[in-house]
Amino acid sequence: MQPFIPFSRPTVSDVEIEELVDSLKSGWITTGPKVSEFEKHILEYTGAEFAAATFSCTAALQLACKALALGPGDEVIMPTYTFTASAQVVANCGATPVFVDVEPSSSFLMDLDEVEAKITPATKAVMPVHYAGNPVDMDRLYAITKPRGIKVIEDAAHAIGSSYKGKMIGSHGSDAICFSFYATKNLSTAEGGMLLSNDADLAKKVKQLSMYGISDSREIWNSRYSKAGSWFYDVEFIGEKANMTDLSAALGIHQLARLDESNATRARYAKIYMDGINVPGVEFLSVRPDSECCWHLFPLLLPEGVDRDDVISQLKERNIGTSVLFRPLHLHTAYRNLLNTKEGDFPRSEALFHRLINLPISPSISDNDVNYIVENVNDLLCPK
Ligand SMILES: Cc1ncc(COP(=O)(O)O)c(C=O)c1O
Repeated sequence: MQPFIPFSRPTVSDVEIEELVDSLKSGWITTGPKVSEFEKHILEYTGAEFAAATFSCTAALQLACKALALGPGDEVIMPTYTFTASAQVVANCGATPVFVDVEPSSSFLMDLDEVEAKITPATKAVMPVHYAGNPVDMDRLYAITKPRGIKVIEDAAHAIGSSYKGKMIGSHGSDAICFSFYATKNLSTAEGGMLLSNDADLAKKVKQLSMYGISDSREIWNSRYSKAGSWFYDVEFIGEKANMTDLSAALGIHQLARLDESNATRARYAKIYMDGINVPGVEFLSVRPDSECCWHLFPLLLPEGVDRDDVISQLKERNIGTSVLFRPLHLHTAYRNLLNTKEGDFPRSEALFHRLINLPISPSISDNDVNYIVENVNDLLCPK
């Protein structure tokens, strides 16, 4: 009997556990030297210039909005096909999320023609979302935003290790790029996030805002609690509490060292799915030839007319866990209330959503598990 295959499970190796114990014994367990080390490694890995580690991707996005002074009257264009965090941070600043539909292909990425059409004098930023790690066409996006002075905040929650035109996501020159290291992500620190930027002042401000806006906040472990330290501090801005701990960074340092290997396993599993699922009418994620996807997720679009929720139940009966990421934001109550959206507003996103299941792709499962899933998807959708 096949044991239950969970949709996602983190992989934690002994070296992470040893590093965590080292942090616990070091006498300093919150933001300190390991966070700085993790930031340095992420910069080396991505090729970005400045980094600010945060408690989550949501916190990084929120602080980016705050550092860019987004507020009432400002609009931020983003796909409806995303997680609530993308729009929540904009709404929390008092600014307005403006949704666009996905492209006609199965890329799950926002339609850049519609982005251009929705620009108004109030548009202050665009937030591309690299769904599943599938990179948005950044050159086309910059051709729209840069001449108009519109900021770009990348929601790169899914995209650490993805690349666009030969360069890592994080290094293309957006005002802010925010990664997630949440428990289910391809690099996990339990909870965690990271803002990257090529703007030194913005990254510095985000670091400071992540700890109350206090002047020396990120150096507290050294400047205040060491023998040479002083008790004095100044609150320079109204900030938030959104810092990463050294305990999370201890995990992140070693997760990052294994990231290429674990992303290669994801890519291999994606290929097994795409080669093996042989059902007329199914579609897979379409990735442009100029990009490499880290396969944080594996979306499978079922043939039109198939009852998606029934397939999910039947896969569960066969011990296969799945998910549906995402239900487009304009369909959720909070955004219907906030933005007056309704069913039918973004038909391409709705069509994707109704056909979508996300299959397990984490390296915590085996080749046998993936082959078992392929066999069962084929058997359910095309019984012999
Ligand atoms: C597209 C997207 N943006 C942002 C986030 C928020 O990430 P975090 O949980 O690290 O705040 C998520 C989380 O899954 C996400 O999927």
